[in-house]
Amino acid sequence: MRVSLDSSVLIDRFGRQVNYLRVSVTDRCDFRCQYCMAEEMVFLPRAQVLTLEEIDFICRAFAELGVTKIRVTGGEPLVRNGVISLLQKIGEIQSLNELVLTTNGSKLATMAEQIKEAGVKRINISLDTLNKLKFKQLTRTGEIDCVLKGIDAAIAAGFERIKLNAVILKNRNHQEVCDLVQFAVDKGIDISFIEEMPLGVISSHQRSEAFYASDEIKTDLATKFNLSALADKTGGPSNYFLVEGAQTRVGFISPHSANFCSQCNRVRLTAEGKLLLCLGNEHSVDLKKVIRSHPGDLAILKQTIIEAMKIKPEKHEFNLQEQPVILRHMSATGG
Ligand code: GTP
Ligand code: 5AD
Ligand code: SF4
Repeated sequence: MRVSLDSSVLIDRFGRQVNYLRVSVTDRCDFRCQYCMAEEMVFLPRAQVLTLEEIDFICRAFAELGVTKIRVTGGEPLVRNGVISLLQKIGEIQSLNELVLTTNGSKLATMAEQIKEAGVKRINISLDTLNKLKFKQLTRTGEIDCVLKGIDAAIAAGFERIKLNAVILKNRNHQEVCDLVQFAVDKGIDISFIEEMPLGVISSHQRSEAFYASDEIKTDLATKFNLSALADKTGGPSNYFLVEGAQTRVGFISPHSANFCSQCNRVRLTAEGKLLLCLGNEHSVDLKKVIRSHPGDLAILKQTIIEAMKIKPEKHEFNLQEQPVILRHMSATGG
């Protein structure tokens, strides 16, 4: 077992350096995606949610501890009031290489330009289907036209890179993988296919029946595209392939079929201020408690974060056959 000797960087018991922080700025969302949420959700009372100032303070502590990439997520981050000013503040942190955002795209048509101006370099947009009716079914409340306009607005705003995220479910949208790649090629953007993870109890489907492995997607894509493996990494879990004759990279996020935990470089800050050390485990430390009992004390906060590395689990143990062990829905952490 290796433990960090350098207290200015974050290294866990397995020698993995944490340099990527995912920040959920709200657990709320204007969509109710079937794989992410139950139909009826109870959201956090506002007083339990970190203020924008508290989020900024925590991001600064992480930056001082060697975090170079911050991804703002939700729920849906763009429904949080004041999110643009928060992005501007985080964007000013000198030592960050990358401020990035994951969104469902519903508000991008009006916000894409401001987000770019705030310093966000790359943006990931969820899009699981191109079919209007299916989109409504999968998101329960979403309108595809709004998201398509949002994608165009993001392209016009000139982000360094735009990636679509598609969670693929057997017999729901698996038939669309070629169309989704063609859409990404036509738009000149990237796309990642994601295997569904069993986070939280949902009512719409059995996760085991809906499982569609990355290899099945690759086989489907081979009927229409030539994909060649790329060494590119973004610091996220995708393994990328290049579509022959196009600029588009196709990524595969395969928590079940190709576990990537040994490469894990990330931790998560939930909207209520918990530092979550793994998406697939409950190990966490309450940073809100620390900053509310010691306001403005960066040293104590940094020490707490360093200590937290000792409880970062080695890997997630997702089991699609059983009821989910992790009762927190994905919307509580933003993925
Ligand atoms: P890039 O920075 O563009 O590589 O993005 P990313 O893939 O890190 O982030 P994004 O928000 O687009 O997340 C895509 C999917 O990856 C989501 O479904 C996340 O839940 C999943 N994901 C990200 N990190 C982890 C992780 O540590 N473990 C697991 N199991 N899934 C993860
Ligand atoms: N499994 C896999 N991906 C999920 N997402 C939301 N819920 C799940 C889940 N249970 C995806 C969203 C979004 C990203 C942040 O996480 O589609 O693209
Ligand atoms: Fe909202 Fe994203 Fe969850 Fe869909 S996946 S309900 S868009 S947080």
